[in-house]
Amino acid sequence: MAVSARRVAFATAASLAVYWLLKSFLHAPHPALLPAAAALVAVAIAVGAGGGAGAGAPPGPAAVPVFGNWLQVGNDLNHRFLARLSARYGPVFRLRLGVRNLVVVSDPRLATEVLHTQGVEFGSRPRNVVFDIFTARVVQQYRSMWEAEMDDVVSDLRGDSAALGAGVVVRRRLQLMLYNIMYRMMFDARFESVDDPMFVEATKFNSERSRLAQSFDYNYGDFIPILRPFLRGYLNKCRDLQTRRLAFFNANYVEKRRKVMETPGEDKNKLRCAIDHILAAEKSGEITPENVIYIVENINVAAIETTLWSIEWALAEVVNHPDVQRKVRGEIRDVLGDDEPITESSISKLPYLQAVIKETLRLHSPIPLLVPHMNLEEASLGGYTIPKGSKVVVNAWWLANNPELWEKPEEFCPERFLGEESNVDATVGGKVDFRFLPFGVGRRSCPGIILALPILALIVGKLVRSFEMVPPPGVDKLDVSEKGGQFSLHIANHSVVAFHPISA
Ligand code: HEM
Repeated sequence: MAVSARRVAFATAASLAVYWLLKSFLHAPHPALLPAAAALVAVAIAVGAGGGAGAGAPPGPAAVPVFGNWLQVGNDLNHRFLARLSARYGPVFRLRLGVRNLVVVSDPRLATEVLHTQGVEFGSRPRNVVFDIFTARVVQQYRSMWEAEMDDVVSDLRGDSAALGAGVVVRRRLQLMLYNIMYRMMFDARFESVDDPMFVEATKFNSERSRLAQSFDYNYGDFIPILRPFLRGYLNKCRDLQTRRLAFFNANYVEKRRKVMETPGEDKNKLRCAIDHILAAEKSGEITPENVIYIVENINVAAIETTLWSIEWALAEVVNHPDVQRKVRGEIRDVLGDDEPITESSISKLPYLQAVIKETLRLHSPIPLLVPHMNLEEASLGGYTIPKGSKVVVNAWWLANNPELWEKPEEFCPERFLGEESNVDATVGGKVDFRFLPFGVGRRSCPGIILALPILALIVGKLVRSFEMVPPPGVDKLDVSEKGGQFSLHIANHSVVAFHPISA
């Protein structure tokens, strides 16, 4: 087979790029990995081994064999980068990442197809309804508890001289609040303070899990199976952590409640928190032990961190927009006076506060690409053929920040949701505007929306009512740079906020 000089030159350049890419991003790779991968790419290109996506596939950048488009995208599969690619390749385009096709959807009409009209085709697995059932059951029962946990945050801040003076990183206290809200509903358990050893242990396990799950090593293994043997160290670390982490949650929370329920006495058979309902359903054979683990896993991963990121964003924006802060405070005073507490039932009477939450979720979607969907069979989308087994992501952040769809989307402007966008709601069903999908929509959408939205509105409302929140002395504006992108979008630098009490 004749190999042209041009192809050899391209193969050499590509193999050097692969060498550099892997060297830059893999943590402590196997010594044989880098030269082996680079040589493999060079040979594959030189002999012209294909990496095509088949007839009728969506457009996308030209791919090299084995690694596909990795050379162009590097480790930066974030929402802004993918939005730039959509300007070039269109509302549905394809990236070839190793053996997988990644199909990126950046248009509300096509998002409707993936998430709603063809939700089954692109849903890859049925919804796990267990979460919906139990979330709905316990949410009603625990509403006053959340409010008490939030009032504790307000009184702790009032008594904290650092918070009142130079300011504090408020995240840690809010994290404790969210753990307490979720763990009380889930396990009837509570942590005393941020120094509670169980809190320290639980947060350590969960943040280590997030760190490993968001590592690019995960993508390498998923997209390029031949690299898996070289990622053994990473995979072992993941397995080891998961075993220890689930053992911790099982022993301290699940089994503890199982014992309480099995102990004869007054409390016997009294179903209290979510795990009681879940264990009862497991006992009667309604659900499997895997379902139990799914819920324990998700409460830690999907529920707490996402809500915490959103609170951090919301507070940073209201600190940076004192006029917005004043308007929220004014609305609360007008509607509730000085004494009536803010409860969940008052939120519906506070449209400006709700607009602040929506605007936060629009500008800083915590899960900007939603959770990847997948078509188990070949499918059709926007006139293109989507090869079986493609990963399909909807760039929800871009749908909510595209200047062709929104007026000055880069500005934090809650007023838009009272004016030209007053019909747009954060919802996962019913009348959905497919430009605004912070919780996804359809069969894979977020079951936690019924918790997340009131928690966000209540904590922001309570803090704004109790304090004038400002940047620390000497700082003009809080830094709202973002971090992440493929899986999550959070504030890069946790805000330091000073709290000036407002007397009622
Ligand atoms: C501001 C807070 C939150 C945001 C922005 C958020 C957003 C999301 C998004 C975008 C998805 C994927 C939807 C899709 O791919 O179509 C999701 C899934 C999920 N969320 Fe949330 N979420 C939040 C809070 C919560 C809470 C509080 C809980 C639980 C109490 C929760 C539980 C879940 C679960 C279990 C899934 C997986 C659903 C499935 O795949 O079947 N989330 N969330």
